[in-house]
Amino acid sequence: MNILVINGPNLNLLGERDPKHYGTESLSDLMSWFQNLPETIGHSIKIFQSNSEGQLIDRIQEDRKWADGIIINPGAYTHYSYAIRDALEAVGLPAVEVHLSAIHEREEFRKTSVIAPVCIRQISGLGKESYLEGLRELLKVVDIP
Ligand code: DQA
Repeated sequence: MNILVINGPNLNLLGERDPKHYGTESLSDLMSWFQNLPETIGHSIKIFQSNSEGQLIDRIQEDRKWADGIIINPGAYTHYSYAIRDALEAVGLPAVEVHLSAIHEREEFRKTSVIAPVCIRQISGLGKESYLEGLRELLKVVDIP
């Protein structure tokens, strides 16, 4: 299975940004942990981060023929990017929305996701384990060894 992992704006600052919500590990710590999980063995994984909405959309489009599924942490774009929502809907790949923090227990604006309706599941509040749960969800629905 080919999995595209997408991280949105400000996630490049993990480790220094608001450790109470996001922990002390950097994005590269987190992504290498993810890539070395027993659950990822035998799967191809591409990791991408951008602060720009357009680049996130370009990447979803560019990898639409390669990927079997998408794990996406859209960062703050979660709450208002209809363009990312439409890109995910357009490519038609199973996608899981993941968040490190418990978005439903924070500020009001974080409780809304415009992305979740086009995803098979939203997972939040598990720290980096949210990505692992996202992978498990994809493995359930994608019928490729
Ligand atoms: C986040 C939650 C978002 O509300 C926030 O804007 C982020 C990170 C998370 O992983 O908890 O940038 O997606």
